[in-house]
Amino acid sequence: MRSYWDERARLNAAFFVDTSLDYDAPDMERFLATGREIVRLAVDEAPVRPAVTGTAVEIGCGLGRVCLALHERFDHVIGYDIAPEMLTRARQLVPGGVDLRVTDGESLPGLADDSVDLVVTFTVFQHIPDVDVIRRYVLEAGRVLRPGGVFAYQWNNTPGERYWRARRAAMALVQRLGRGDAHGRDRPQFLGSRVPLWQMDEALAQAGLQRVGLREPGQLFTWGWAQPVGGR
Ligand SMILES: C[S@@+](CC[C@H](N)C(=O)[O-])C[C@H]1O[C@@H](n2cnc3c(N)ncnc32)[C@H](O)[C@@H]1O
Repeated sequence: MRSYWDERARLNAAFFVDTSLDYDAPDMERFLATGREIVRLAVDEAPVRPAVTGTAVEIGCGLGRVCLALHERFDHVIGYDIAPEMLTRARQLVPGGVDLRVTDGESLPGLADDSVDLVVTFTVFQHIPDVDVIRRYVLEAGRVLRPGGVFAYQWNNTPGERYWRARRAAMALVQRLGRGDAHGRDRPQFLGSRVPLWQMDEALAQAGLQRVGLREPGQLFTWGWAQPVGGR
C-alpha cells in the first residue's frame, strides 16, 4: 500500500486524495474547503462530540486538508499516513503546528493509551483491501481514546463484499493485461473493501468501543461514531 500511495502522491497528490478534482488543474481552494466540510460533518454536526478538544488524530491524512480544519478546533492535531511522499507534500500545505507522522499502515505509533479525544478517518478504510487491517486500526482507536473521546469513521458499507472481492481480482487481471484505468484506480489498493455493519460493530466491540451514531448506512460514504464503553 505504501508504494501505491507514494506513487499516487508523486503523480498527482490532490487528485488521488479527491478524485472529483480536475486531474490537470485541481482547484486547491475547493480542495481545502472540502476539508472543512468533512470536519463539520464528522465533528460539529456529529451525534456525539468529544468531551474535551485536546488532541485529535487523523488516520490516513493525505495532504492534511482534514488536519487543517481540525487545527481550528483542537489544541493538538496529529495526522498519520502510510505514504511519506504524501506527508512531504502535506507539510507544504499545513502549518507547523500540525504533527504529521508516518505509520506502518495499521497502527498509531507513539500514542499513549487513553490520550486522545478524537480519532477520525475519511476515505481511507474504503481503500484498504484487507479487512483485518481496518480491524487493527479500530483496535488502535479504542486503545488511544480517553473516556469521553470519539471515534468518527467513514467506510464503504455498500452491500456485496464478496462480489467486490471478485471484481477486485478481475480488475487486477485486466490491469495486468495493460487495459486498466490509466490512473490506477482499478488496483486493489484503490478499490479496497466493502465492510458490513455487523463486522464494523464487531471490531468496535473488540476495541472496547460502542457505536453511538450512524449516518447513511449502505453507502460508500457511510459514517459511524463510537465511544469507549462504560466511560472508560
Ligand atoms: C483518498 S486519501 C484521503 C486523505 C485524507 N483523509 C483526506 O480526506 O483528505 C487516502 C490516504 O490514505 C492513505 N492510506 C492508505 N492506506 C493507508 C493505511 N493503511 N494507513 C494509513 N494511511 C493510509 C493514503 O496514503 C492517502 O494519503
